[in-house]
Amino acid sequence: MSANQLDNKSHAWSALFSEPMSELVQRYTASVSFDRRLAAVDIEGSLAHAEMLAAQGIISEPDAEAIERGLKQISQEIERGAFEWQLVLEDVHLNIEARLTQLIGDAGKRLHTGRSRNDQVATDIRLWLRGEIDGISTLLRELQRALVDVAAQHVETVMPGFTHLQVAQPVSFAHHLLAYVEMFARDDARLADVRQRVNQLPLGSAALAGTTYPLDREHVARTLHMDGVCQNSLDGVSDRDFAIEFCAAASLIMVHVSRLAEELVLWMNQNFAFIRIADRFTTGSSIMPQKKNPDVPELARGKTGRVVGHLMGLIMLMKGQPLAYNKDNQEDKEPLFDTVDTVRDTLRIFAEMIGGQLNPATGDREGGIRVNADAMQAAAQKGYATATDLADYLVKKGLPFRDAHETVARAVKTAQERGCDLSELPLDVLQGFHAAIERDVYDVLSLHGSLNARNTLGGTAPAQVKKQIARHRARLASAGH
Ligand code: ARG
Repeated sequence: MSANQLDNKSHAWSALFSEPMSELVQRYTASVSFDRRLAAVDIEGSLAHAEMLAAQGIISEPDAEAIERGLKQISQEIERGAFEWQLVLEDVHLNIEARLTQLIGDAGKRLHTGRSRNDQVATDIRLWLRGEIDGISTLLRELQRALVDVAAQHVETVMPGFTHLQVAQPVSFAHHLLAYVEMFARDDARLADVRQRVNQLPLGSAALAGTTYPLDREHVARTLHMDGVCQNSLDGVSDRDFAIEFCAAASLIMVHVSRLAEELVLWMNQNFAFIRIADRFTTGSSIMPQKKNPDVPELARGKTGRVVGHLMGLIMLMKGQPLAYNKDNQEDKEPLFDTVDTVRDTLRIFAEMIGGQLNPATGDREGGIRVNADAMQAAAQKGYATATDLADYLVKKGLPFRDAHETVARAVKTAQERGCDLSELPLDVLQGFHAAIERDVYDVLSLHGSLNARNTLGGTAPAQVKKQIARHRARLASAGH
């Protein structure tokens, strides 16, 4: 497309076309309304390309300088909001190129030498996504820090641990929170892994088969701080597996957030009353004056569906596409953008909702979740959470585990009938279940006794939990990875 045609709003593509697109088709095919978000990386890629073209003697130095000047001006125009985006110019690439030619004339028309929009757009998305991955990684680490800091306050806070959402065994609340830290740490590692495959340069693949100009692709990759160069031009322009992988990693982040969200909702319920979250993360009801609804965690749970949906969308977008580039791929952007926006907002809001804000004067966190340790403890007490401890006690006295299990089941039944906890059964009653039971049984029937007994690596004993907190703090101390 020549610059004059680019300037002309009612153009057909070239001399080859006998009629212009209808307005509907124009609107249907245009992507500029959303892909203008790639403008900064589009310019970054073009600058690197032009510099290399000049270094290789493919365009002149003065042309490269004019291109650089023009692109920098365009970048400022876009930042100022002064750039005039035109639907008729279809996408971000053609809009910028047309303006460049308007500004600097023929030199602008030389920028696209040895390049196609196919390798250009693939490069843009990769550059953009690389930056977003780094941003999300930072947010993941902030959320982990918030969880670790809250955990550090609650090493000795006992809550009921659940299986099947039934009270199972007592656990430290810190231990419970640190389970999420593990999940988010893996999510971060997954992103770092995906990043290596995102950070490969398609530019130089041209439309599909490579180019006749003596490009130095490695030069461009170095300029753009990419880890390598796509080694097959057909693959470079056409596959979006890196975006799919990213959406899979993002989906797992959201799945983990969603599990935490579900727990926050439960814990806020009056029948649990384990925690409160700050009012700014809740809303009232328009009819029921007493209500405080956990809208933020609920929305995070809901938005998880949206992110997983984008993953499905991208997978379906890719399947069945013949090599090489197809216009289908233009549909990769909106799901990808929305995934990034949703994950970023969610992580930011969760870090603050859980950890509050850091007071720079005191180094303390303020306004995060408030924990009702008494309610947690009472709930753990209610559910016979130390029944396994009693069974283990009997095993240590020589009973086979299955017999101990049965004996304790009878003890629990009696306690239920009396409406009390195991630790509240008198010694003679306990001894009625088994003669080996002695006074020291009450040590294992206490919640803290139960916690302390699980003192193996990865267990909930406060001594173990403290070690884990120290490990996470050391890991999260560095600004980077
Ligand atoms: N807007 C297009 C996209 O997002 C750019 C590539 C267009 N290439 C083409 N041959 N029509 O994929």
